Amino acid sequence: MSPTITDLAGGPDAFVRLVDAFYVRVEQDPVLRPMYPEDLEPGKAHLALFLAQYFGATDLYTSQRGHPRLRMRHAPFPIDAGAADRWATHMLAALAEQELPDEVHAAVEEYVRRATPTLINRLPADVLPPDGRDPWGGDGPAASAT
Ligand code: HEM
Repeated sequence: MSPTITDLAGGPDAFVRLVDAFYVRVEQDPVLRPMYPEDLEPGKAHLALFLAQYFGATDLYTSQRGHPRLRMRHAPFPIDAGAADRWATHMLAALAEQELPDEVHAAVEEYVRRATPTLINRLPADVLPPDGRDPWGGDGPAASAT
């Protein structure tokens, strides 16, 4: 069997280092930091396990956390296009710092660019319907009335 991206990265620890570098940026981000809980450590570990699993380490995340269901797990956080863009920018900057084979860089970058927009769950205010309701479930008169 050909090596996975996680193999090429040198194993799951490469994603621990990537996520550490990413969280340094999240901690300083005025938009993203408030979405994250006070204790960043559990989420950090989960994201590293998820990425290592996604890129080849079978079951590493799922055995601890169950099915990823990323859209569902991100539903509580108000992710609009701007927040998603900040997240991707921090992840790509953290990635650029890592000494990893080109193939790994390319695969992670491609995934981050492709996956981040799928987690957007809030529309920008200027395209909301006239009653202010967010049909994707954001706060608005209809949502707060229920
Ligand atoms: C490629 C894109 C992304 C991936 C693969 C990803 C993956 C994950 C994973 C695996 C977790 C941990 C879930 C668990 O509890 O087991 C998580 C948590 C979280 N994600 Fe994401 N995510 C992405 C994008 C985003 C974006 C765009 C935002 C916000 C702008 C975001 C905000 C959060 C927050 C606030 C948590 C909770 C952290 C905690 O509980 O400590 N994520 N994400």
